[in-house]
Amino acid sequence: MRAENRAPLIVLFLALAGLSCSPTSEAPTRESETVREGRRIFVSDACPTCHGQDRAGTNNGPPLQGLHPRWTEEKLIRFLREPSAFRQSDPRLRQLADRYKTVMPGPLRSDEARLRTLAGYLLQD
Ligand code: HEC
Repeated sequence: MRAENRAPLIVLFLALAGLSCSPTSEAPTRESETVREGRRIFVSDACPTCHGQDRAGTNNGPPLQGLHPRWTEEKLIRFLREPSAFRQSDPRLRQLADRYKTVMPGPLRSDEARLRTLAGYLLQD
């Protein structure tokens, strides 16, 4: 009898424990979904042609790793919309453009949300 009385309490406890755990257990999944979506955009917009599948760079373009000290999400979005303007004002980008056979093409015509997801992917490491 006593065990039966306790059963609903145990169910309630497990439900509450589940609820309180869910925000932390969902966080990594949400993050990796953004990264996955950003990678999909990266590939579908042909960025790997010059920057490599794993962003390690090719003969046509520099590696895109460890970008966060130099770039914020907002700045990257503006860059992707108008790379030539950044080349004019940033000597480092001009040097990079000289070093490779190509220059960063653009502007990338895409909506804000898509560019933000792409930028988030580029800034993840
Ligand atoms: C035709 C080759 C080519 C393609 C395709 C290309 N890039 Fe580039 N990218 C370059 C080159 C070359 C540079 C060096 C700077 C410049 O030319 O402006 C560069 C620079 C960059 C930089 C700055 C790197 C740094 O060190 O700060 C980012 C970020 C970038 N590209 C992202 C992208 C993304 C995202 C795509 C796909 C939408 C893409 N690139 C497609 C050639 C390319």
